[in-house]
Amino acid sequence: MKKVTIIIIAFTSLLLLNCSNNKKEDTKTTQVQQETAQETKINPKGYELMKTNCFVCHMEKPDPSKRGQMIAPPMLRVQEHYKPSYPKKEAFVTAIKTWVKSPSEDKVMMPGAVRKFNLMPKITVSDADLQLIAETLYEIDFGNMPKMHKENHGKLALNDGKKWQLNDNSKKVIATINEQLNNFKSNDVTAYNQLGKDVFSNTKKILLDKTYDDKTFGQIQKFFHNIEGNMHNMIAAKTIDAAKKEQQTLINKFKKFNNFFE
Ligand code: HEC
Repeated sequence: MKKVTIIIIAFTSLLLLNCSNNKKEDTKTTQVQQETAQETKINPKGYELMKTNCFVCHMEKPDPSKRGQMIAPPMLRVQEHYKPSYPKKEAFVTAIKTWVKSPSEDKVMMPGAVRKFNLMPKITVSDADLQLIAETLYEIDFGNMPKMHKENHGKLALNDGKKWQLNDNSKKVIATINEQLNNFKSNDVTAYNQLGKDVFSNTKKILLDKTYDDKTFGQIQKFFHNIEGNMHNMIAAKTIDAAKKEQQTLINKFKKFNNFFE
């Protein structure tokens, strides 16, 4: 009797498994169809090269179910971080090529990723292939994904009622940023774009500081995630008004920084 029950259970689970497999196949097919549609807009060779050279480590898009397996930031996020600073294709392509040939902290646009995954190793790929990869990365439309960073959604918190301690280097950097933001005035929007870049390269100094423990760093990162969009917008701003708005928001946010860090 027992045996029969076991056999029946085994058989039903097999059936069920088979069923869910079929479903998976179905979604796979639609995925492939979508991908093919997507690939037709971009250079298929460039996409193939990206698959073999880059997607080994980078996923194309964030996938919450695979968060634990990530060993590099998703390519969509990479694109999101480079486009504001390099809106024109040529400059974007150059930046990606320069990066892949020799990744280094002074060039980093994603300092949080360096802390999380370590610096990307140098990738050996021919100049011609790299050119295609970089062009494809500029053109590819990964679709719109909601901003992820789940762990960073929470509000800043104090450290048991006390402020988080910054080291002297970081304090100096924060003072510099405040000075840059508060004293800046110009009639030239490109000067504001540059200001955005300067503020960003200063924030990087703090995010790349390896002396912070994980808890302190987590809070620092939360703060900087919250201003990342403002820095990007300022770097990419087309009008003085838009840039000034970001400047004011940044000034206000840095004022709040002092409520949590000292
Ligand atoms: C061996 C794994 C690996 C491979 C292969 C790889 N990457 Fe990366 N990549 C990383 C990691 C890890 C990071 C995050 C840390 C960092 O920014 O250095 C990264 C970050 C990046 C960044 C962001 C750099 C920044 O400014 O912070 C770019 C751009 C990039 N990769 C492009 C590429 C391209 C293009 C390819 C394919 C030619 C590629 N990667 C292949 C591991 C890899």
